[in-house]
Amino acid sequence: MADFPQVRLRRLRRTETLRALVRENKVEVGDLIYPMFIVEGKGIKEEITSMPGIFRHSPDQLLPEIEEIARLKIPAVLLFGIPENKDETGSSAYHSEGVIQQAIRVIKKSVPELIVITDVCLCEYTNHGHCGIVSNGQVDNDQTLPLLAKMSLSHVEAGADIVAPSDMMDGRVKIIREAIDKEGFQHIAILSYAAKYASAFYGPFREAAGSAPQFGDRRGYQMDPPNVREALREVAQDIAEGADIVMVKPALAYLDVIRQVRNTFNHPLATYNVSGEYAMVKAAAQRGWLDERRVVLEILTAIKRAGADLILTYHAKELARWLQAE
Ligand code: PBG
Repeated sequence: MADFPQVRLRRLRRTETLRALVRENKVEVGDLIYPMFIVEGKGIKEEITSMPGIFRHSPDQLLPEIEEIARLKIPAVLLFGIPENKDETGSSAYHSEGVIQQAIRVIKKSVPELIVITDVCLCEYTNHGHCGIVSNGQVDNDQTLPLLAKMSLSHVEAGADIVAPSDMMDGRVKIIREAIDKEGFQHIAILSYAAKYASAFYGPFREAAGSAPQFGDRRGYQMDPPNVREALREVAQDIAEGADIVMVKPALAYLDVIRQVRNTFNHPLATYNVSGEYAMVKAAAQRGWLDERRVVLEILTAIKRAGADLILTYHAKELARWLQAE
């Protein structure tokens, strides 16, 4: 067997073109999904304090942003709604004139080829901030399911291409599949947040969406961070119920989970580089403590190397600009 000095691994690192020739993983703009916050009302464009560079837009302010995303060749957006009115059952989530339903129509009218994915979850729409119906102080799984189905149906009726349930109720993929199929939407895909952990990295998102739970926390329905075998069961279950794409969320503290899901299943795999992961990079970069561009590229490449096909990331626009400039 050849050994040093015949073997020298540095030979293929000598120049950038040699390194590029043997590069194993690459992030491309076509892998990215850009999450967006849509706020009910008019004339609103406000930056989210803990997520510099990310804004809440009202539907009437959306167009320039959408056109920019299309220009940058980002293939898809994920929409979160912030309604004017919240109530016990999150009824503005499944109203045909709700904020997301309006936003979908605006986008589909101007840039029909942009893939519109909608987050399906009640937490932004309920006054208690939980992801489902609360009864006797608990989030009731089976009472929540029909509302998730109704919400999904109203999104696809408005023109959504993919619905993405993030509530972590058991059985939601099956109920959503049945409900939209029954109305003729067999062609619409479901991206399930299959392995979604009860993570502290969602902090900035909850500020952005005003969706922090008013009592308790989400550990009764989102996954316990130390578990990985359970993640494989969650993914298997959602696939059995009809999920077309599965997701692991968050990304960075869960790269091992991404790898195991990739090794076990053949479905397209998405992962969510969440708000807290974005905020950490931005905060350090603002102080000049990190080279932002290199760090973002390294993080997103690591997520691909771990096995993700698609990455939901607030860095999507910046990355697209950097890659275009190369
Ligand atoms: C809704 C939802 C959350 C995120 C995506 N969908 C928040 C939560 O579960 O509390 C988090 C996204 C992010 O942090 O960027 N349930």
